[in-house]
Amino acid sequence: MIIASNFKTNHTRASTKHYLQTLDTFVKESGSKQEVLVFPPATALDSFELAENIRVGVQNAYPVEKGSFTGEIGLEQIDEFGLKTILIGHSERRHIMNETQELCAKKYDFFKAQGFEIVYCIGEPKEVREEGIDAVIAYNETQLEGIDLLYDKLIVAYEPVWAIGTGLTASPEQIEETLVKLREKIKAPLLYGGSVKPANTKEILQLPNCDGVLIGTASWDVENFCEMIEIADSM
Ligand code: 13P
Repeated sequence: MIIASNFKTNHTRASTKHYLQTLDTFVKESGSKQEVLVFPPATALDSFELAENIRVGVQNAYPVEKGSFTGEIGLEQIDEFGLKTILIGHSERRHIMNETQELCAKKYDFFKAQGFEIVYCIGEPKEVREEGIDAVIAYNETQLEGIDLLYDKLIVAYEPVWAIGTGLTASPEQIEETLVKLREKIKAPLLYGGSVKPANTKEILQLPNCDGVLIGTASWDVENFCEMIEIADSM
């Protein structure tokens, strides 16, 4: 299974280093076979020597090698650390930073051409969920426009906006009914994200169409994150 942590705007360079050392020791000592992904903030990126099933990725980047894009990082800055994993289309970038579908697709194409593993995020806001599953699927499909779903290094993360950072997890039934529909179109691994924590990790990972989880808040504490990896190992 894929167990991923999105640090968002949390952790420093020093605390990321400590986090990854602790995680690495845990993965090696436990012999965990999960695919573990960690997305630290851009300032904490580095070339880390980690167990082969732990990969560090970037939370965002501009689709250029380098240039005049103040405040952004491009391929040159990522390449310096040999990183090959990127998160694209997170709801916080779409809804807070007003990133359009067109820009998400542009980033997708650019990093796909560079052979990156891409965790591509989709998810509906509350008012859409309240309209029912057909509206949910229609909304999520708009976030797949321009995205090559056959790319072999694609991972799709379904993260309902209303469940992110709210403590409000989608019910197993809501998650599964959505993943089943997405599965009709997407053969890539499907993750769920939105208030995943040790207490609900098992019931989410047990869902037939769920291939892993993308965790924010509960993963910022490394002990908690290791606990969730341990839960996956025990299944
Ligand atoms: P929370 O786990 O804090 O709800 O965040 C989920 C998320 O956005 C991961 O990308």
